[in-house]
Amino acid sequence: MKETTQRGQWGSKLGFILAAGGSAVGLGNIWRFPYLAGENGGGAFLVIYLIIVALIGFTLMLAEFAIGRYTQSDAVGAFKKIDKRFGFIGIIGVVAAFFIMGFYMIVGGWSLAYIFKAVTGAISTTDEGVLSGAFDQLVQNNVQPIIWGGVYIALNIGIVWSGINKGIEKASKILMPGLFIIMIILAIKSLSLEGAMEGVKFFLKPDFSMVTPKVILAAAGQAFFSLSLGMACMVTYGSYLKKEENLVKNAVIVPLLDTFVAIMAGFVILPAVFAFGFNSEGGPSLVFVTIPAVFTTMGVNIGIIFSTLFFILLSIAAITSSISMMEIPVAYFIEQKKWTRKKAVILTSIIVFVMCILSSLSNGTLSDITIGDMNIFDFYGYLTSNVLLPLGGLLISLFVGWKLGKKNVINEVTNDHTIRFPLVNFWVFLLRYVMPIIILLIFLSGLGWFQ
Ligand code: PHE
Repeated sequence: MKETTQRGQWGSKLGFILAAGGSAVGLGNIWRFPYLAGENGGGAFLVIYLIIVALIGFTLMLAEFAIGRYTQSDAVGAFKKIDKRFGFIGIIGVVAAFFIMGFYMIVGGWSLAYIFKAVTGAISTTDEGVLSGAFDQLVQNNVQPIIWGGVYIALNIGIVWSGINKGIEKASKILMPGLFIIMIILAIKSLSLEGAMEGVKFFLKPDFSMVTPKVILAAAGQAFFSLSLGMACMVTYGSYLKKEENLVKNAVIVPLLDTFVAIMAGFVILPAVFAFGFNSEGGPSLVFVTIPAVFTTMGVNIGIIFSTLFFILLSIAAITSSISMMEIPVAYFIEQKKWTRKKAVILTSIIVFVMCILSSLSNGTLSDITIGDMNIFDFYGYLTSNVLLPLGGLLISLFVGWKLGKKNVINEVTNDHTIRFPLVNFWVFLLRYVMPIIILLIFLSGLGWFQ
């Protein structure tokens, strides 16, 4: 018991849901989901995405919470505690965390930069040329996005530095709800634009002829990414959970929350893209080009106020996610390497910053450096979402299903049989057989396409 109180814990029930929800809801939902849907056929992508979320969301999230709380350890220590040979699963998570942060912090920096673009009225227009021009000018610059990325990393350091409960929990509690409200306002506005229905059709009406293994892999990768699964992030957050908390309930609420925001973002972005006649395959620029245009239709001044507010909230949603990524290596360094929290935060940040410089420059000066057709920025994303996270998810599923011991697992998720969870045996069955097979199939088909 002594150990748990020293490690820090979430202060309240709401605190944990907001922190885990804050980890899940982020740039993945608002920035990445709409552009992947745009690139991968809209409705077909949405359907496959939802199926995969339904399959892995609850099952794997509960598995990660269970390992975390059972072992009360960091990503690597959690696996090691149960079986010495399996620390490598956590190492995959730590490595994935670095690669995700290597581009996520840059996009977080873009979002910060956009707060200032919005305030000055520089993006108060519906002209695609001007909006894409502003985006390209920022991201292809050799200095600006790196400075913004640095500022963004500094904000993360500020929060992770003060640890669980104080920093992370407080931040999420204040910041999450505002985002919901502005997303709803945006969706209403976007849906009322002339020509918006084309976008709604694109988003909701699946054209299954568009489905290829590549689309399936992209949807699966996005599901892992958006739910923060497969890299022991929820293991780490779960390790700060109190023994009385209801894991099952949390594993239902967090994926629902996350999916709600992603769909909302789809309803904000895609109708507007079609209404304005923008390119739905705009990739990473899609949100940054579309959102200011939607707001501008509300009138220039109101547009400025709302788009400023939007990018503030987007930055905040990003931060509540990136602090959870940072916590993975930080907790690992503290517990396995016996570093102080400060040292762990500083060293993690330095590595991340270097990786960020590379990914940012790959949108400009270093664009010639490619890895399998991708620049460094895209490669980090592909490697993590489509390879490391599903691989981690596969291993975590097998580990909880077979290694943790059925009795231990069941005791953990039912709080020693004080919580009703009638499907518990079915859940273990899913972890043992169904999850691994599905993830393997997605992998194999995806890799086949890739060659
Ligand atoms: N889920 C976060 C998002 O959607 C990203 C994330 C991935 C966070 C993995 C933590 C771990 O933005």
